[in-house]
Amino acid sequence: MMYDTCTSRYLKLLQSGHLNELTPESLYNLIYESFDTSILKTKVRNEYYTFSITTTLLGLSQTDLSNSQITSRTIKDALTQSLLDQYSTRPSVDAKDPDVPFFVTIKGDGSIGIYVSLISKNSNHVLRGYRGDVTHKGSLRATTAALLGYKSGVTLAADAVKSDEIKSLKIVDPMTGSGTLLLESFLLITGISPYEIMLNSGWRPCWERFGFGKVDLRDIERRGEEGRGRLNSDAIEFIGNDKVGGNLKMVQGSCEKLGIRREGFRTHCNDISDFKFDSTAEVIISLCNPPWPDGRIGGDDPDLIGTWSKIGEWSKSNLKGNEIWVLAPPTSLSGELRMKARRAVNFRQGKEELRWSQYLINE
Ligand SMILES: C[S@@+](CC[C@H](N)C(=O)[O-])C[C@H]1O[C@@H](n2cnc3c(N)ncnc32)[C@H](O)[C@@H]1O
Repeated sequence: MMYDTCTSRYLKLLQSGHLNELTPESLYNLIYESFDTSILKTKVRNEYYTFSITTTLLGLSQTDLSNSQITSRTIKDALTQSLLDQYSTRPSVDAKDPDVPFFVTIKGDGSIGIYVSLISKNSNHVLRGYRGDVTHKGSLRATTAALLGYKSGVTLAADAVKSDEIKSLKIVDPMTGSGTLLLESFLLITGISPYEIMLNSGWRPCWERFGFGKVDLRDIERRGEEGRGRLNSDAIEFIGNDKVGGNLKMVQGSCEKLGIRREGFRTHCNDISDFKFDSTAEVIISLCNPPWPDGRIGGDDPDLIGTWSKIGEWSKSNLKGNEIWVLAPPTSLSGELRMKARRAVNFRQGKEELRWSQYLINE
């Protein structure tokens, strides 16, 4: 489940191996001599599926393989030459929408893994399928948002609702932007697979053509329906607020794509200082991804210090006896919250160090 929602790609391992040396020649030879290229052959004689190669290099900075573009080209050349020598025709690369998107990882110890993505567009799950054409400038990666939702315990709380230990749960984001934290929390709680969303948005599955990793789509749909049904009780409610109305339109568009009922997912358009919601719920978990300095992560804000201190004030007035989780940069704006974190989860997103901190608000 975690793998399902937080992973950035669905990959199937085709082959693993070991490079004798960390050089393009060694890589070329390994692919040419041992990679089973028949995966690219169609049923029509001398015709191939199109392909692309994406390479991830881990711990290779001081070697001849430290440039992923050159490494991808070496793999492509070896694969092409192998097919040419065997069947006398060349396969074609399609970087935008290949039939077979290969993903190759090479590590500093020489181990190599060749994978194929189970979704045939050369994309990753960061894009999901629920976002519209316009994206919020400061939106979180969907997979990161799923991780944050999970770490803040939204699934545990929702399970407690299911088993009647808790009567009602509200998940509230006072600076919701395009709603990624709430939408991903919704997906976690309902168990709707990103596969279902992606396929509904027109992605092509690979597994049927290649006959592996059989996934029963009806099963995925059934799980989604069950999950939505579970949320059709009024016990769990999502509430998003943002001072910019246009952002809330994005949230509403995504809700429509995901089939979320309006009553279960409310939006407010207020400055956080004026944002009030009906707080009569047994448990409230608030999630917040405020603006960051330099437009990183959160867009531009001329009064960052003021905005951060408003989050602290809002929490103390509206979340008594409950908790808020805040995504903070390492340079500490979090001091402006004037609250003491109970615990924090540290992780990286690309080059950014992120800190997801939990604050308990006294009664
Ligand atoms: C980092 S973005 C949130 C992005 C969101 N997590 C997503 O993935 O789309 C911060 C949001 O806070 C909103 N915001 C900034 N100051 C605010 C304020 N004083 N009151 C309410 N919303 C505010 C901005 O409009 C922006 O959409």
